[in-house]
Amino acid sequence: MLKGSVRIAIGSDHAGYELKRYIIAKLREEGYECVDFGVDSRENADYPDVSYEVALAVARGNCDFGILICGTGIGSSIVANKVCGVRCSLCLNEYMAAMARAHNDANVLALGARVLGNELAWNITKTWLTTPFSNEERHVRRVRKISLIERVGKGCLTACINKVE
Ligand code: RB5
Repeated sequence: MLKGSVRIAIGSDHAGYELKRYIIAKLREEGYECVDFGVDSRENADYPDVSYEVALAVARGNCDFGILICGTGIGSSIVANKVCGVRCSLCLNEYMAAMARAHNDANVLALGARVLGNELAWNITKTWLTTPFSNEERHVRRVRKISLIERVGKGCLTACINKVE
């Protein structure tokens, strides 16, 4: 995918605000299109609010990918993974970023601003955005099982999880 045609939804809480500004500047420098869902200051904010909006933008197809930043990345990733169609990956290093895309076809990246330095966060982001899904049969099958789990819910899961082609 050409960078110019990749639309990224990005958002943070107060703890991720500074890192979000840094990552947006780097993304724009590289030619990515960013849609900033806030927050717009260091004032206390609840990570579920912005995380949900970013996740919806990806799930609805308004943006290709999402990036969420809070203190640890944990809260944001929990929220995003509640939204159907979202596979949010909390990444602490470049290896996790590459695997999140290649194996899990992750469409949202969560970063922890209190855990990562700016440079590492940017390297993770670059790796994540430039690694394609492997499309290998076993990974396609596993991602399909994730979608199935979303659709059937836990109750019916044992009945049909192994019937996925
Ligand atoms: C805010 O203090 C912090 O709890 C939040 O940024 C995040 O780390 C939650 O998971």
